[in-house]
Amino acid sequence: MPPAYDLTDHAYDVLVVGAGGSGLRATLGVVEAGLSTACITKLFPTRSHTVAAQGGISASLANMGEDHWTWHMYDTVKGSDWLGDQDAIEYMVASAVDAVVELEHYGMPFSRTEEGKIYQRPFGGMTTRFGKGPAAERTCAAADRTGHAMLHTLYQQCLKRDAAFFVEYFVLDLLFDRQGRCCGALAWNLADGTLHRFRARATVLATGGYGRVYFSCTSAHSCTGDGGGMALRAGLPLQDPEFVQFHPTGIYGAGCLITEGARGEGGYLTNGEGERFMERYAPSAKDLASRDVVSRAMTLEIREGRGVAKKGHKKGDHILLHLEHLPRKVLHERLPGISETARIFADVDVTRKPIPVLPTCHYNMGGVPTLHSTAVVNPAGKDENRVVEGLFAVGEAGCVSVHGANRLGSNSLLDLVVFGKAAAEACAKTLKGKGKVPPMPEATCEQKILERFDRLRHAQGEHRTADLRDALQHLMQEDCAVFRSKDVLQQGKERVQELWQKLPQIAVSDRSLIWNSDLMETLEFENLLLCATATLACAFERTESRGAHAREDFPKRDDKAWMQHSVVWVEGGKTRFAKRKVHTQPLTAETIPPQERVY
Ligand code: FUM
Repeated sequence: MPPAYDLTDHAYDVLVVGAGGSGLRATLGVVEAGLSTACITKLFPTRSHTVAAQGGISASLANMGEDHWTWHMYDTVKGSDWLGDQDAIEYMVASAVDAVVELEHYGMPFSRTEEGKIYQRPFGGMTTRFGKGPAAERTCAAADRTGHAMLHTLYQQCLKRDAAFFVEYFVLDLLFDRQGRCCGALAWNLADGTLHRFRARATVLATGGYGRVYFSCTSAHSCTGDGGGMALRAGLPLQDPEFVQFHPTGIYGAGCLITEGARGEGGYLTNGEGERFMERYAPSAKDLASRDVVSRAMTLEIREGRGVAKKGHKKGDHILLHLEHLPRKVLHERLPGISETARIFADVDVTRKPIPVLPTCHYNMGGVPTLHSTAVVNPAGKDENRVVEGLFAVGEAGCVSVHGANRLGSNSLLDLVVFGKAAAEACAKTLKGKGKVPPMPEATCEQKILERFDRLRHAQGEHRTADLRDALQHLMQEDCAVFRSKDVLQQGKERVQELWQKLPQIAVSDRSLIWNSDLMETLEFENLLLCATATLACAFERTESRGAHAREDFPKRDDKAWMQHSVVWVEGGKTRFAKRKVHTQPLTAETIPPQERVY
């Protein structure tokens, strides 16, 4: 018997799932286009994880020195280790200046130069003159709280336009019609326990990443890969999930982010011997090499016995980030947030002592594959760009792919606003002139979604969700971190299969529908498990090292076999793997051909 749940119906032109930077920018754009829009979010919008972004948003404004979008494009393609799609990258960097000026006009409180221009700082991998000139000052900052400033600005603009928000609604799954078109989603209102069926002519997934598959990460507890989970359950793939970014400077032990902007302002790293070791790994960019390079160097220093040891311990297990030499004015005006974070989470006064740091999971380069229009694709045979009608994906949930194998710091906030806006334009273009929202077609998966919800709600197994999640986070940390190898990845795959075996015996202790965090965390755990399974499968298949994916058994990049996206489908723990061509042809610029990647 199908479970009996009353559903409240809603109909909109566009449904946006998620209210971080990309979701809010998409919402704003579709409302402006005159389309009826609902933005559903499991968190209050200004609590979305974008709020935690610190260092800034990249754009070649040239406020502090010479710059050009083609240099930004070169850096981004190189940063991606030639796995980024060059059409999408050109689209993003060429739109960057307008996107930042638009934010400024919306009221975003950027830090300012003496002349009153938007303040910009250097960030890792950002250079001038196609890598031949000095570091670019390209990252536009609101002190070290840029994401906070951006999120509040976008939310206010959405409110100004009367966008409809469904706050603290958890989307269970997407709805599809018999032709495979996405026609909305089913959601659970966490506050009153009611279930809601949203009919939409277009749905935008803006649910963020899945950093919480790792034990140590800079991501909020809410980053559970809900969009990836929904896509995989619907038979859609993830692209390039093996590319997981480790940020060099997570606080040792706590994992909280210390912005790359700290090194942009002149901070530097030392090992247990007090050596500025980055000079050996990246003679030119040093501490401002790209994140994958710095994270690997730190890990090697620790492995080779040159880590910094905790007081009373012999074995060095972390690195130090020095800011104590910086003028107090810089710390006070440009880095107030991390000064406070270091005090609270590391008990460090940054004016006197260095901060203990360690590479920490920070960002998922992979996600739901899309074209640069943000339309979701589900490759089938030779048709690598087969579009899933009615579905778009943006931000960390999507893989457009502008970051390829490694994202440059401050290209994420840019990605959010550029492709959030692109999604709104794509919705407006697709839906134009089609008139009223037609009634809900017979959705093929509605009963299945309700059955899953009901099964988990009444789950009486022996394994607590928290225990399974803990096991998942530890296995990912141990078997799929900065350095990988066949044996270790095989072990990770086996350990993940053990969790799939335990899944039918999961235990949920609260049967209620109102503020049932136990049930919500169980639904989130299933999303995490799907994303982790996809990540391990692709990390295992990709027998080369590229960007953030460092295989000790295959230390070289192999363009012949692997200048290809990986695409993976997951069903019941089993995976199917395929490759998809990288788009090497930009929109108007010349292709940037692969080179050795040195900094
Ligand atoms: O280090 C940071 O401020 C992070 C920025 C980013 O991931 O783009």
